[in-house]
Amino acid sequence: MSETKKLLVLPGDGIGPEVMREVAKVVQWLQAARGLKLDIAEELVGGASLAKHGVPIRDEVIALAKEADAVLFGSVGDPAWAHVGFDRRPEVAILRLRSELELFANLRPAKVFDALIDASTLKPDVVRGLDIMIVRETVGGIYFGEPRGIETLPDGSRRGVNTEVYTTGEIERVARVAFDLARVRRNRVTSIEKCNVMESGLLWKEVVTDLRQRVYPDVELTHMLADNCAMQLVRNPLQFDVLVTGNLFGDLLSDLAAMLTGSLGMLPSATLGAEQADGKRHALYEPIHGSAPDIAGKGIANPLAQILSFAMLLRYSFDREADAVLIETAVSNVLASGLRTADIMSEGMARVGTSVMGDAVVKELGKLAG
Ligand code: IPM
Ligand code: MG
Repeated sequence: MSETKKLLVLPGDGIGPEVMREVAKVVQWLQAARGLKLDIAEELVGGASLAKHGVPIRDEVIALAKEADAVLFGSVGDPAWAHVGFDRRPEVAILRLRSELELFANLRPAKVFDALIDASTLKPDVVRGLDIMIVRETVGGIYFGEPRGIETLPDGSRRGVNTEVYTTGEIERVARVAFDLARVRRNRVTSIEKCNVMESGLLWKEVVTDLRQRVYPDVELTHMLADNCAMQLVRNPLQFDVLVTGNLFGDLLSDLAAMLTGSLGMLPSATLGAEQADGKRHALYEPIHGSAPDIAGKGIANPLAQILSFAMLLRYSFDREADAVLIETAVSNVLASGLRTADIMSEGMARVGTSVMGDAVVKELGKLAG
């Protein structure tokens, strides 16, 4: 009954391929038991693509991503390519995808699973019930601003330059995503910049304030300096609902927020583009954890963030809320049953590897649906 959706799978580097294998099991289950119809293509990106094709991502792959209904991304980054020029780094793959598909709003939820409360380095009372959503701008700011580069000065010393730039339009479209999300959550937005030292931050604050007055007067808005926000996230994270910020601050604060939950290995993310005339929007889903080269290939990586990224994909791109909830519930139940990968291990729990964890999720899905 449901139409076939085009899914592009890009496992990438490090633990990407091994955690993606566990998603494949979940996909197969949904196809067999829930009538999910997918047309799946898989391609190399990052170091894996550099090794085979000499580039971090081929133009053909960008084109496939544009055609797809959604992209499921693993992670890129490989120490073997750490010393090549910026245009040939594995990371270029994700940066080009974000930029060429105009995926400007990166949604990074940080949610504490009750069963994992002891995995947090913070006291349980500080993080119990934590549920925040960081909305990070991802196609502008200092990541893409011009001028940029490294130049040699007349005296032979060198100078590295990057530029933080934001336009009204770029700020407004990402702030809208944050306000819309807040309305279906706890109705609070915290906007983060450094308006005390940066003009781009001052403009950010003005544009967000103005947008709220015009369009979202019902949503509570607070402004916070980025450094204070880092401190507040550790001191009292429960004060936050939705946070909206630029590319660089969002990169830092989302890693910080992720760690409040006890494991980077648990957190999914979605990066969305603008809604097009036909109602579709480009979207890419990826775990926050990155390629983790130190544990790659050992079969010990936590596949749950990748599996939960696929759940987000089902929710936001394929309009399959029920399946998304099913996966999220299965993950919760598996954790409650005591299974743990190394990154979230705690006393008295059963330590398992990547594929046993994936199998456990599929088994739980079967139970929930049965
Ligand atoms: C992230 C990563 C990327 C970023 C890297 C891999 C380019 O750290 O998604 O947070 O800095 O945006
Ligand atoms: Mg990052």
